[in-house]
Amino acid sequence: MGTERENWSTRFGFLMAAAGSAVGLGNIWRFPYLAGANGGGAFLLIYLGFVFFIGATVMLAEFTVGRMTQKSAVGAYKSVSRNWTFAGIIGVLSAFLIMGFYPVVGGWATAYVFKSVTGLLSEPSAIPSAFGAFISDPVRPLAWMFLYMLFNIVIVIRGVGKGIETASKVLMPMLILLLFSVAGYGMTLPGAIEGFRFLFVPDFSAVTARTFLAALGQAFFSLSLGMGCMVTYGSYLAKDTKLASSAAIVTTMDTMFAITAGVAIFPALFAFGMEPTEGPGLVFVVVPQIFAQMGFIGPVLSMIFFIALMIAALTSSVSLLEVVVAYLIDEKKWPRKRAVITTSVVMLVFCTLASLSLGIWSNWTIPVLGVGFFDFFDILTDKVFLAIGGMLIAIFTGFRLKKEDLKREITNEGTVPFAIFELWYFLLKYVTPVAIGFVAFFGARAAAQPALMVFGFSFIAILALFSKKL
Ligand code: PHE
Repeated sequence: MGTERENWSTRFGFLMAAAGSAVGLGNIWRFPYLAGANGGGAFLLIYLGFVFFIGATVMLAEFTVGRMTQKSAVGAYKSVSRNWTFAGIIGVLSAFLIMGFYPVVGGWATAYVFKSVTGLLSEPSAIPSAFGAFISDPVRPLAWMFLYMLFNIVIVIRGVGKGIETASKVLMPMLILLLFSVAGYGMTLPGAIEGFRFLFVPDFSAVTARTFLAALGQAFFSLSLGMGCMVTYGSYLAKDTKLASSAAIVTTMDTMFAITAGVAIFPALFAFGMEPTEGPGLVFVVVPQIFAQMGFIGPVLSMIFFIALMIAALTSSVSLLEVVVAYLIDEKKWPRKRAVITTSVVMLVFCTLASLSLGIWSNWTIPVLGVGFFDFFDILTDKVFLAIGGMLIAIFTGFRLKKEDLKREITNEGTVPFAIFELWYFLLKYVTPVAIGFVAFFGARAAAQPALMVFGFSFIAILALFSKKL
């Protein structure tokens, strides 16, 4: 066994893995319902602003830090200064927490692949109640979640190149094909124009501080930023891979997928006279209902859609699992297999809590915080940890690392030009931390779960105080 760090074997493989991490439930499950609940076009516009000014900037910073230090989330910070170890730890914790609910939804998607062709669509009016009954069942969603988690384990245990890269190279092109065919079909429906108007014409009347925090959190979540994932993936990069264009490609692909998911859902939704404000059940309730009205092709399209959703989720959750696994391999010297199994077991326990919190425990909330486990994992990461994690990596890279070193890393020792280096550096060092600070502060003040926000921020502050001991 060599001590060589694992590497991506090709740039294409890396791009598919990084885009695979970015494109996931965030794009297809969450983006449409957030846009639906937050006024459509106005949300999209704010979201795009965050994605391209802050998201792309932070993504390049994460790739750069990862490749420069050759370390995953925690090690990257720690190797520079122990005062910063806590920022990496928050990343690893975020991975655990996101994996505390992500495989629950991944399991739903897996189940719906089969449900699509086994009679779910034959009774359209029963689709919403069938979803409610399914996710609140104490056994069935857990079984699907275990199956989904098994797929993750099989991929990540094989390692970076053989597992994650190979899977992504096959799955991502498949995803593109599947999602585009569903979106293409939706566009041809009569009445589709209403959906386009909803998605693309901004109506600012629904915009508040909450909308901004939701859009910022979504930008980080969707791009897999603020928790060391892209640092970890960057650490497996060859020294001659171009970083800036990679960040641009991954950001663009992620955005394209979110918009395509919107185009797959909203035109059809309006064409069939349904409401866009369905919430987290949107794709599971609305999409099958849409397909149910299409005759014999419906079940097939529905199955294709849910296979796409499952694939998108899978290439993302493997990256979340890899963040923790890489930490255990790098910092604790664990063998990969043990790291994967142990981590997955803990994640499964979290997921079980999250899944049950939607069913038999739906009346119980965590004392003081006032939310169930599913919401706890989801809201805490999306609205606090990722945003603050993004702020920390920006401050760390901007103020703690040397500008010349960053420039040398990004330009591959001066061999590839990066014309907008100064602009990037300015966005990273000043614009990103200030913008996130504002949005997080005012957004948290207006948030529906103030106690949870305070808990999240205090938790980070306490970890920061003990950073040297971590
Ligand atoms: N980006 C993924 C999605 O949109 C989720 C994710 C978040 C993955 C953070 C890795 C890290 O579904």
